[in-house]
Amino acid sequence: MRLPSAYALTATLAFGSVASAELVDSSLVGTWATKANKTLTGPSFYDPVNDNMIEPSRPGISYSFTSDGFYEESYYRAISNPADPSCPGAIMQWQHGSYVIGSDGSLTMTPIAVDGRQLLSQPCQNSHAIYTRYNTTEKMKGYRVYTDPYHGILRLDLTEFDGKIMQPMYLVYNPPEMLPTQTLNPTLAAGTTPTSKAKRHVGREVPTNFKMGVQSKVMNPDGWWWMGLTFTGIGGLLYFGPRRM
Ligand SMILES: *[C@@H]1O[C@H](CO)[C@@H](O)[C@H](O)[C@H]1NC(C)=O
Ligand SMILES: *[C@@H]1O[C@H](CO)[C@@H](O)[C@H](O)[C@H]1NC(C)=O
Repeated sequence: MRLPSAYALTATLAFGSVASAELVDSSLVGTWATKANKTLTGPSFYDPVNDNMIEPSRPGISYSFTSDGFYEESYYRAISNPADPSCPGAIMQWQHGSYVIGSDGSLTMTPIAVDGRQLLSQPCQNSHAIYTRYNTTEKMKGYRVYTDPYHGILRLDLTEFDGKIMQPMYLVYNPPEMLPTQTLNPTLAAGTTPTSKAKRHVGREVPTNFKMGVQSKVMNPDGWWWMGLTFTGIGGLLYFGPRRM
């Protein structure tokens, strides 16, 4: 029987031979994405030169890890609207930074604060999509890399701090597809100051003629609303609440 590498890692950690928390794990290296494989890290999701987020054709989650301790993540999903369930919203989030694996097997990802971005569209609450900075450190309780028994490809399960296992992700690229790992510090950072109301990020409203990167799509709330309906049509599995805002 072939032991998945995550078991090997756990065994190593259990023997206490890993003293440092500055560990990287080569089995994590690559770009991982949920099954639809349309939301990916890298320039297809975020364009730092024009400071644009580019709408993927399907919702999903993607993480990339390098062998020298850097990560990047892209999230795109529908969010429910409790006040009007027929009118969901959508959210895109992007961050990058550095990661460490703790001696307890946890995975901590610390973003470069000025670089993260969030685009939130709640057409029935707000006529504009809201584009803000986004900066959230993520601590995963653990992770597991193994060959998926059905698809026969490498799979990554991340366990959140509350013990919940995230949607599985599958290896898409190795080496990973990522934007440069150093601070990009794109234009949104320039000349803006956080208000006391929103310390974590600086908001800007995206006008309805906002262009969406290479797709040159008009980012208008009707478009987002239409996408929201598409998600719920695809199936309840893709329908999440907001991760954090
Ligand atoms: C995922 O999408 C990428 C980019 O289109 C493609 O290169 C890759 O082969 C796809 N992987 C899977 C598992 O479908
Ligand atoms: C980013 O988040 C960290 C942790 O919450 C916080 O200490 C830091 O001040 C934030 N930075 C910015 C620029 O918002």
